Amino acid sequence: MTWLHGLEHICQFDVPLARHTWYRLGGPARWFFTPRSQDELARLLDRCTTHQIPWRMLGRGANLLVRDCGFDGAVIRLAGPFWNAVRFDPPLLHAAAGIDLPRLVKQTIQRGLSGLETLAGIPGTLGGAVRMNAGGRHGCLAQFVKQVHLLDLAAQPQTRAPEQMHFTYRGCRLDGCVVTGLTLELPDGDPPTLMARFKQILDDRRRTQPPLSARTAGCIFKNPPGQAAGRLIDLAGLKGRRCGQAEVSTRHANFIIAHPGATTQDVLDLISLVRERVRSQTGIELELEVEIW
Ligand code: EPU
Repeated sequence: MTWLHGLEHICQFDVPLARHTWYRLGGPARWFFTPRSQDELARLLDRCTTHQIPWRMLGRGANLLVRDCGFDGAVIRLAGPFWNAVRFDPPLLHAAAGIDLPRLVKQTIQRGLSGLETLAGIPGTLGGAVRMNAGGRHGCLAQFVKQVHLLDLAAQPQTRAPEQMHFTYRGCRLDGCVVTGLTLELPDGDPPTLMARFKQILDDRRRTQPPLSARTAGCIFKNPPGQAAGRLIDLAGLKGRRCGQAEVSTRHANFIIAHPGATTQDVLDLISLVRERVRSQTGIELELEVEIW
C-alpha cells in the first residue's frame, strides 16, 4: 500500500508546474492533488504529515517562481465547487479559499460592498491573497478580514481572528496551517463610485506596470522601509538588463519578464545580479516578495 492509498482519485503524477504559474516556468510536481472538499484536504494533509511528504499549496501561481527541476513533493490546488463557494451576509462575506480574487472583487462591487475594490488588478486565489496579505498602495486584504478559517498542523479546523494571523506587509504567520476560507467585513458602498475607484486603480497599474498578460510574478522584491525597490533598481541602471531570456522590465524595474525560451534559472540569475548591484550601490539588501519553490 503506498502513502496515497485512497487518494488516487485526486492525484496526478509529474504535472508540469509551468502550466500553473503566471511565469509559465518551472518543472513538474511529483504529486499534484485537487482535493474536492475540506475532509479530503484534511485527509491528504494528515497523510503528508504521517509520511513526511513535503507539500505546498498552489493558488493561481501569480507570485510564484518554480525551479526548473520542479518540486519533489505534493502540490495541492483547491479547485471545484466546494472551494469556490461564496455567501453574502452583509456586511459579512464568507468565501472559500479557492475563489478567484478578481472575481470576488467584482462581485463585491456589484453588490455595493466596499473595500476590495482597492485590490483591483491583483491576480490570485483568496487563499493566496491571505498568505501574501495581497495589496498595494491603496490597501491590503488584512484590513477587511474578520475571521480566517484554516486547517491546523493536525489537519483540524480552526478559526482565527486577524490579530492571531500577524498580518504584515505582504505576509502573515501561517506556521504550516492551510487557509480554507475567510469571513470578510465590508462596509456599504455605492456601486458606481466603487467601480470608478476600481477602474482608476487598474488604470494606474496599467500605466506603470507590465500588463497582466506578461510573463512575470508581479513585484519581485518587497519595498524596503521608506524606499521603493523599483526605484532603487532603476537608479542602479538595471532596466532592460538581461540574463538569458529574462529581462528587468523597462516599464517598472521591480518586475522581471520571462521572454520565450526563458528558464527559471535565467530569472534566478537576474535576481542575484539585481540584488548584488543594489547592495553594492546603496548598501540595501533587497528581500524577495516572490515565492520560490
Ligand atoms: N519607480 C521608479 N522606477 C521604476 C519603478 C518605480 O523610479 O522602474 C518609482 C516610482 O516613480 C515611484 C516609486 O518608485 O516613485 C514607487 O513605484 P510605484 O508607485 O510603481 O509603486 P511600487 O512601490 O513599486 C507597490 C507594490 C505593487 C503595487 C503598487 C501599486 C510592492 C513591492 N509593490 O509598487 O505591488 O501594485 O504599489 O499599489 O509593494 C506586487 O506586490 O506584486 C505589486 C506589483
